[in-house]
Amino acid sequence: MSNYHIKHLEEYYQVYRKSIREPENFWEEVAEEHFMWRKKWDKVLSWDFSKPEVKWFEGAQLNITENCIDRHLTTRGDKTAILFEPNSADEPAQHITYKDLYKRVNKFANVLKAQGITKGDRVCIYLPMIPELAVSVLACARIGAIHSVVFAGFSSSALATRINDSDCKMVITSDGSYRGAKSIDLKGIVDDALEDCPGVESVLVAKRIHSEVVMKEGRDLWLQPLLDEASEDCRAEVMNAEDPLFILYTSGSTGKPKGMVHTTAGYMVYTAYTFKNVFQYREEDIYWCTADVGWITGHSYIVYGPLANGATSVMFEGVPSFPDFGRFWEIVEKHKVTQFYTAPTAIRALAKEGVGYLEKYDLSSVKVLGTVGEPINEEAWHWYDDNVGKKKAPIVDTWWQTETGGIMITPIPFVTPTKPTYATLPFIGIQPALMDENGQEIKGNQVDGRLCIKFPWPSMARTIWGDHQRYKDTYFSAYENKYFTGDGALRDEVGYYRITGRVDDVIIVSGHNLGTAPIEDAINEHPAVSESAIVGFPHDIKGNALYGYVTLKEFGETRDHNNLRKEINQVITEQIGPIAKLDKIQFTAGLPKTRSGKIMRRILRKIASKDTSNLGDTSTLLNPEVVQDIIDNAL
Ligand code: WT7
Repeated sequence: MSNYHIKHLEEYYQVYRKSIREPENFWEEVAEEHFMWRKKWDKVLSWDFSKPEVKWFEGAQLNITENCIDRHLTTRGDKTAILFEPNSADEPAQHITYKDLYKRVNKFANVLKAQGITKGDRVCIYLPMIPELAVSVLACARIGAIHSVVFAGFSSSALATRINDSDCKMVITSDGSYRGAKSIDLKGIVDDALEDCPGVESVLVAKRIHSEVVMKEGRDLWLQPLLDEASEDCRAEVMNAEDPLFILYTSGSTGKPKGMVHTTAGYMVYTAYTFKNVFQYREEDIYWCTADVGWITGHSYIVYGPLANGATSVMFEGVPSFPDFGRFWEIVEKHKVTQFYTAPTAIRALAKEGVGYLEKYDLSSVKVLGTVGEPINEEAWHWYDDNVGKKKAPIVDTWWQTETGGIMITPIPFVTPTKPTYATLPFIGIQPALMDENGQEIKGNQVDGRLCIKFPWPSMARTIWGDHQRYKDTYFSAYENKYFTGDGALRDEVGYYRITGRVDDVIIVSGHNLGTAPIEDAINEHPAVSESAIVGFPHDIKGNALYGYVTLKEFGETRDHNNLRKEINQVITEQIGPIAKLDKIQFTAGLPKTRSGKIMRRILRKIASKDTSNLGDTSTLLNPEVVQDIIDNAL
């Protein structure tokens, strides 16, 4: 069938038009031909964005792990599924074949069952980028348990919030993790978190750094001895198409993280189909996505999408700067990586170190480059194109979100002519719309507006765990009958999209999605703080960095300000994690507010970006006098 692998631009337009005219027929064909179903669907799609309710492939039965593992055993049993590259360049890489993966996932699944985990139970996974992370994700899916992976850079309190929000019965972790030259006490973080998590019955602990950890009697178990005892066979649970596969948290405009719920069949079909086309994946390829499995990029494009295609997916434990800034390129050369997918923040950090690190390695295996997570600036785009791709490897600038499950706007390499900083065209089946302030769709080209999606796609999140109303309010209420992304975008003269950034209270720092509210809540916990407001400002490497405006209580004013800054960042690190630390903290007498008491972030954003030429009319503020004071003392 031709529509699984798009080969040229006319074909893209042809397939795109079909996917829009007859979405049910289109996705049915994709689902028919490329997956293993226990039972086929009764209905391809039913949807109502006003509820909102979306169901794909209703009535179908399947297990995603049979699609990601079992069905490859006869043809690709000895092919590497996961190529694990450790933190230390001296430790050998591990080639985990499809046969190995089958055994490891089944053993792990049997351990979960023996610990009382059954279909529908939530299991929290808090692991570094080691094979057990991918294996435990798949083991949950094998038995129908819902995995909730929490990025292992989150603090104990952020972990506890996520465990409790979805009532996880079990936590899977490791003694610790390696991160460059450092090691991190993950088990200690889990122990702290579990002080506040009464629902957790057991903790499975993988050994990675062989540190001394406290094992709590009756709760904590070493993983390896259980795996050693477990059988290599585990029947895959038969799942319904719309059964939840996983929960993944993302930050929102209130303090509480949103547990996005992804379901089984549609997620599988869309991540597999996008993986194959967006990376023009071929059987012999060695594909590497540098994200962490703790984010959606890792779920969809390290684990599920690649494995559903029988691909070899590189999983890297370490960081780009260890032992030096050549590490990524050393790995590309060593494993002859063909597709390399990373974030603009990593590109900028590496570009800053110069091309010397790059020139030492042979990067000629690279065919396709990808970027994701935030808008890529022109300079970084060209650096990537010139030095990594040598102008021969097309760059796919892929726009998507935790909520969308898969890539939404992207070039198709060798098919879509690329344009720096543009995510270019909607992927097959995706119907974007740009909206104006009055809720009207802006038609035509050379326009900009708020980015919405008009029609369901198979991998969209179905709800927020435990809070469907919030799902509706956040994504389906701003514009009638449309999914609102929270991003602004422009459409150029040929219909290419460029994502211009968030239009809500989310700030993307180093590709991490951070809500202002949770950070402000954390800062306000400091006893000397009365109020705070966080905004983003442009940063050479991180894309955006955080600028905090903080007003102090009377006694706080007498404290040493530099010490206070440290303490505030300490509270943030404890409550959320080091990724949310502020680059600048300005103490102010007050925050500019509207008469209804809403903080005017627009003004604060301009001051933080050193752009005070056009602050607009500030006279209608409740407290216009604070503005000049903030400008005078800006950092
Ligand atoms: C937000 C989603 C899904 C991958 C990781 C991030 C921004 C993502 C791009 C891109 C411009 C991008 C958007 C989006 N974003 N990719 N190629 N160009 N912006 O997932 O944490 O859910 O964040 O990341 O603002 O809404 P996420």
